[in-house]
Amino acid sequence: MAHAAVLGIGAYRPGRQVPNEEICGEIDSSDEWIRTRTGIAERGWALPEETLEVMALGAATDALAAAGIGAASLGMILVATCTNGQPIQPLAIRLAAALGTELPALEINATCAGFCYGLGLARDLLRGGTADRILLVGAERLTDVLDRSDRGTAFIFADGAGAFVLGRSETEGVGPVVWGSDGERGKVLKLIPDYTELRNDPTLSKPSISMEGRRVFKWAAEQMPKVAEEACKAAGVSLADIDVLVPHQANQRITEVIVKGLDLPERVVVADDIVTTGNTSSASIPLALHRMRAEGRVKPGDRALLIGFGGGLAYAAQVVTLP
Ligand code: UT7
Repeated sequence: MAHAAVLGIGAYRPGRQVPNEEICGEIDSSDEWIRTRTGIAERGWALPEETLEVMALGAATDALAAAGIGAASLGMILVATCTNGQPIQPLAIRLAAALGTELPALEINATCAGFCYGLGLARDLLRGGTADRILLVGAERLTDVLDRSDRGTAFIFADGAGAFVLGRSETEGVGPVVWGSDGERGKVLKLIPDYTELRNDPTLSKPSISMEGRRVFKWAAEQMPKVAEEACKAAGVSLADIDVLVPHQANQRITEVIVKGLDLPERVVVADDIVTTGNTSSASIPLALHRMRAEGRVKPGDRALLIGFGGGLAYAAQVVTLP
């Protein structure tokens, strides 16, 4: 059992679907502009009672059911999030308790690359024998840090949670991670003001995401095709061996640029969950895969290339075999 594999995929989608028209009420925009520039037609926004814990627990329970195991057989919990407003206690530890366990539980913040960062860590923890089974959750409530009157972000970000259950395996189901960061360029995407600034000056408005979208777009479009190729190389496969492509659901146009930049076979199924889900940061990759499974567009044994990227700037990519 020298390898790691995905055993189950789970999802939690919030209860409220918000169409573009509703967003346009607060910003000077149009349904057509948002669809053309991002691919988004509507997004899931959490109801007041759909806290980060509720969504993380929903996705975790779904993934455990898909894997056919109970929380008692897990060895560790990893949670990727960048919207946990209460880092003490970490969301990962609250989730461990909500699942009725006292497992080691670690929170990861690599923003939109968080899920693929977590997958990289989970793989090595399993291969190293530290744990036999790991629950990895990506959970976000981006509406908590969204300025609904900001023309640059109000239409993109959304809420939700996705999860994988992973286990030790005789064959390689999760390839090596290819990851990195660019903190210098990362200043183009951050919370303004930060919490320290707010503490020092309580008259400031509450922290919300500020993004120079065009610069993040350019970085992702230029760098991610190379990162994708490196992830295939690290896994010992070629692009011709890939069945499914799941880039972080940031913008449908970024997905199209990545597809154009890669010499993928025609048959490859490409994730387009952003159309009805919006950009859910670290939750977007498991959410997209979950929907593709539910719609029968992908099948067990398919080889999927995952590419997480975003604020930080940070990126992480790997090849996984679908359960
Ligand atoms: O997941 C985290 C990482 N984030 C991302 O990956 C996001 C990457 N960036 C993007 O997705 C895109 O940059 C956006 C969708 C955010 C913006 O699209 P864009 O094509 O980069 O727009 P832009 O900011 O370059 O603006 C183009 C035009 C401007 O008008 P002019 O100067 O060409 O006349 C803007 O004033 O679109 C105008 N504009 C808008 N129009 C209607 C900007 N925002 C809006 C808006 N509605 N909300």
